[in-house]
Order: sequence, then C-alpha cells, then structure tokens
Amino acid sequence: MKIVLVAACALVDVDGRVLLAQRPEGKQLAGLWEFPGGKVEPGERPEDCLIRELAEELGITVKEPCLAPLTFASHTYETFQLLMPLWICRRWEGQVQGREGQKLAWVRAGRLRDYPMPPADEPLIPVLVDLLGPGR
Ligand code: C5P
Repeated sequence: MKIVLVAACALVDVDGRVLLAQRPEGKQLAGLWEFPGGKVEPGERPEDCLIRELAEELGITVKEPCLAPLTFASHTYETFQLLMPLWICRRWEGQVQGREGQKLAWVRAGRLRDYPMPPADEPLIPVLVDLLGPGR
C-alpha cells in the first residue's frame, strides 16, 4: 500500500486557540475540519512543504521555532497509508486568510472535538489539549 506523507500544522494564536481549516467541496473528506497543511512532494523536505503549504493556503510565512514536529499521526485509509507529522507554530508573518476559499476557525483545544475531523487528525487532539490546556 502506498504511503502518503502530509505535513500539518497547529497554528496557535496569542489566546492559545488553534486554527482549523474546512476541507472544501469536491475534495476527499469535504466538510471535515483539519489542521492546515498538505502533501510532501517528491524530494521535498517536510519542513519546506509545511512552509510552502501554509503560504499557499493561508498566505503566511511561518517562523523558525516551529520547525521541529511535535508528534505525528498515522492512519490507514482505503487506498493509502497516511503519515502526518504535526508542527506547532505560534509565530508567523502575514494575516491568516483562507486563500483557497476554505472556511477557517480558531478553536480552543478543549473545543476541538466539536469539529468533525478526518480520522487521521482526531488522535492529535489530546496531544494539543495536553500541551495547551483546554483553554477558557
Ligand atoms: O489535502 P490533500 O487532499 O492533498 O491530502 C491528501 C490526503 O491526506 C487527503 O485525501 C486525506 O485523506 C488526508 N489528510 C488527512 N488529514 C489532513 C490532511 C490530509 O487525513 N489534515
């Protein structure tokens, strides 16, 4: 079975809320809320993919301290196995915007479960609650 590597990011704002993006209509898993990111291209370093994807999708430049992954998710979908390191980033340049028309939500860690997610993303929630606390 093919392995797909996806770099994903928990962007955390000054209030400790995490950014989720809704997968748009027409895409696999449309309507579900995910940590922003995307597929690592052949030969690309995962951290470079993270920088590229967040620039393309959100119009921001993430800053260096985030460039070690916090943890990774693994999930076997019907046709591929997904490996997804999760970075955490509190610093970036630019204004976060859904550049591909996707809806965005800033969510405190304790409310992440209110947003239906792809099965690969869900196991990352307790990691973030542990790190950030549930939030107020
Ligand atoms: O975003 P993209 O469609 O390129 O991602 C490839 C696949 O990886 C998706 O179809 C989805 O199954 C999975 N994925 C995921 N969680 C994410 C991003 C992608 O499960 N946060």
